Amino acid sequence: MEKLVSLAKRRGFVFQSSEIYGGLGSVWDYGPLGVELKKNIKERWWRSMVHEREDIEGLDAAILMHPKVWEASGHVAGFTDPLVDCKHCKNRFRADDPRIKGTPGQPDGQCPACGTKGTLTAPRQFNLMFKTFMGPVEEDAAVIFMRPETAQGIYVNYLNVLQSSRQKVPFGIAQIGKAFRNEITPGNFIFRTREFEQMEMQFFVKPGSDGEWFEFWRAERMKWIQGLGIRQEKLRWHQHGKTELAHYAKDAYDIEYEFPFGWNEFEGIHNRGDFDLSRHQEYSGKKLDYLDTTTNERFVPNVVETSAGADRTTLVVLCDAYREEAVRGEEGEGKEEQRVVLKLKPELAPLKAAVFPLVNKDGMPDVARRVYDDLRKRFNVFYDDGGSIGRRYRRQDEAGTPFGITIDGQTSQDQTVTVRDRDTLLQVRVATGQLVSHLEDRLRG
Ligand code: GAP
Repeated sequence: MEKLVSLAKRRGFVFQSSEIYGGLGSVWDYGPLGVELKKNIKERWWRSMVHEREDIEGLDAAILMHPKVWEASGHVAGFTDPLVDCKHCKNRFRADDPRIKGTPGQPDGQCPACGTKGTLTAPRQFNLMFKTFMGPVEEDAAVIFMRPETAQGIYVNYLNVLQSSRQKVPFGIAQIGKAFRNEITPGNFIFRTREFEQMEMQFFVKPGSDGEWFEFWRAERMKWIQGLGIRQEKLRWHQHGKTELAHYAKDAYDIEYEFPFGWNEFEGIHNRGDFDLSRHQEYSGKKLDYLDTTTNERFVPNVVETSAGADRTTLVVLCDAYREEAVRGEEGEGKEEQRVVLKLKPELAPLKAAVFPLVNKDGMPDVARRVYDDLRKRFNVFYDDGGSIGRRYRRQDEAGTPFGITIDGQTSQDQTVTVRDRDTLLQVRVATGQLVSHLEDRLRG
């Protein structure tokens, strides 16, 4: 994992937030390549959920919501983790932290940080929602929360979307947006952070058909993830047991990936029954039922939710693409050397190609600039004239750039350039006038 974190910083994927001030715990910033990678993943999700389906509408609800929303959703009462404090060193831990020896609150309970026995408090519930104040007065009546999930913005807009879009049940609402949780055991890079992005879709169905739609969405989501190019053997399902189920869920499956730190969830598919709409109906006093005009039946729709983390999915994509391999040197001598390469699916790669003049003379930089300017109108491309060509290839391998385009001595004679494939290292010569269509074809494939 350290190697991936170091590559992510070196190549501009992810930086620690506020690094010059010593960093802010479990908050991360996306650099020039990271923002492109995450955007490509989000765009692919949006396309498959909203643009390619006539039964799903998009939404962008505000992060701040009426505080009653979080009472209705169950987050005020139930979105908690049991925590213990050490009275000696003042550190705080989750009660189920495997490093704790003995029983917290008892004389044998031992603090995992300072090692003192008997100083751990008995577990207390700690709410994971971030609080802030609305308006100029910092008083209890002005407390609001930073949303811990995007789903609630969908439920409270369900009628607005239904009526304005003229959809009929079954139909869905999809949203991508930030969520905040004051996680106590955050960590593992961008796996568990305090500020993160979710890609959630709530599908509203007639009660009784929820089981069928649940299976439908499980299959769809797995297909989508496989479409990101993730290795099949690194993916598995985990069904929640009775004690694991969230307060709203009738049934739930996680999609897990084998990260370098073990198998962990990065997406959940949940059968939420009518919990959410019924609770909002009760707490708001507004009717949220649906009239099926073909059968004249009225019902509160059930919800099947697909909930993915954009950051965790980005981490899955990065972990899965990361390879260290031996290659024959590309600088002429054919020596074996080690390279680090991100074998990202070309569609997801932040940069689609990099343009290199072989040397900075003989008119090569002028031609290379023209090629670069031409390609830039169509793709996100990079220009690099610094260092040996082997070094430049290696930098782009680490960035996951699928194609390297080199302008060399032959270019001025026949107007062709070499196109190097990141994965096979094979080079083909392509006429400069054909480059755009050549890349389009290969990026599609
Ligand atoms: N609306 C349902 C819901 O929020 P969840 O299992 O709590 O369900 C869904 O979260 C997804 O959101 C997770 O699978 C994960 O990808 C992402 N996620 C949750 N907490 C996160 C955190 N602290 N950091 C990064 N991603 C997180």
